[in-house]
Amino acid sequence: MKKKVVYGVVLLLTLISLPWLLSDFTRDEEDAATLFSHENSSYLSDYPAKQFINEPLQPVVEPQNLNSEKVSLGRRLFSDKRLSPSGDIACSSCHRLDDGGADRRLHPVKGDKSLGMINTLSVYNSANNFRWYWDGRATTLEAQVDESVTSLTELGARWNQLLPTLVSIPEYQAAFTRLYPSSGIQKDNVIDVIVEFERSLVTPGARFDRFLLGEVDALTSEEKNGYQLFKTYGCIACHQGGNVGGNMFQLFGVMANYFAGRKPLVEADQGRFNVTGNEDDRYRFRVPSLRNVALTAPYFHDGSVETLEQAVMVMASHQLGRPIPPDDARLIVLFLRSLSVQNSGDL
Ligand code: HEC
Ligand code: HEC
Repeated sequence: MKKKVVYGVVLLLTLISLPWLLSDFTRDEEDAATLFSHENSSYLSDYPAKQFINEPLQPVVEPQNLNSEKVSLGRRLFSDKRLSPSGDIACSSCHRLDDGGADRRLHPVKGDKSLGMINTLSVYNSANNFRWYWDGRATTLEAQVDESVTSLTELGARWNQLLPTLVSIPEYQAAFTRLYPSSGIQKDNVIDVIVEFERSLVTPGARFDRFLLGEVDALTSEEKNGYQLFKTYGCIACHQGGNVGGNMFQLFGVMANYFAGRKPLVEADQGRFNVTGNEDDRYRFRVPSLRNVALTAPYFHDGSVETLEQAVMVMASHQLGRPIPPDDARLIVLFLRSLSVQNSGDL
């Protein structure tokens, strides 16, 4: 008797919910159909067009669930010179938000006006890398921000001076108390808002991405040829994924020693060896992302090359072991330029 009632109730509930369940399925299918059809060329989603789903390069994906209040506080800190001991530089002095997220210098100018020994990396899309810095020594974004704040190569601040400075500025007091009512201005919270800001620094909408998203005319035929060459020469073996790099470590000089005959070598030239102490890791680097690469000359960890054309030639001879004819290199450079989002700072 009891069993029958239970069955009855279950049957009734199933019948009642059936139309709803079905309609939801149809809605999902419709969504998927619109995502992949791209009938409307101005439609941008995170999904590549059907024919590009298995491409080695993928479009930049908008970050989800960002806390906009943290992002804007992080942005203020990023550009505030009062955070540096000299009061002369901010993160944005070396990472120019209106220009590719780096500084276009051979070596960055530090707070004490001396020059750093390693080329500045872009902050754009860097949250999507798998490790941070040229040698990949930071394994979390939090560790990277901690280092960027304190390292003498970057902001060169000390937490025990920086935190009292922030406490003395009423707007920061108010903003941190609103976001973190029980803890306020603390090292972890400062790191947290800068991390959130870095996560927001993505550059979707490059012409190359619009092409992958189904807008076939977003690239010229020369740029499309350049992309083909980028694939057939094997650049994608190392520069791949949404960041066109940033997801593995590789030797700089697989086919020819880049450092031979160069004097003097500095610590930074040892690459990942500095992190692991393994002989195998000498001259090994995190493969850099090529997003916005046209905006971040000079190139390589040592800034040793001025133009993208030269960088492509060095890659061909040292990473692939085969020269690339100048016209092919030109086409690859045209493709690389299509990865830029101009005025990234406006995003
Ligand atoms: C004096 C110039 C300078 C200042 C100021 C500076 N940076 Fe940097 N930044 C660099 C250099 C140089 C590198 C590369 C260092 C390395 O790999 O060893 C770098 C690397 C980074 C990276 C790593 C990107 C990646 O993909 O690996 C991030 C993110 C970053 N900085 C954020 C910041 C933040 C946040 C601040 C402020 C707290 C800051 N930087 C201040 C010069 C600077
Ligand atoms: C075996 C892996 C590998 C291959 C293949 C490879 N690269 Fe690289 N690429 C790297 C590494 C590692 C670096 C960083 C070198 C350094 O500065 O220490 C780099 C750096 C670059 C840079 C400079 C980026 C910057 O911000 O300074 C460009 C441009 C580049 N590669 C383009 C190419 C092109 C084009 C090809 C194909 C012709 C290619 N790469 C093939 C591993 C590779």
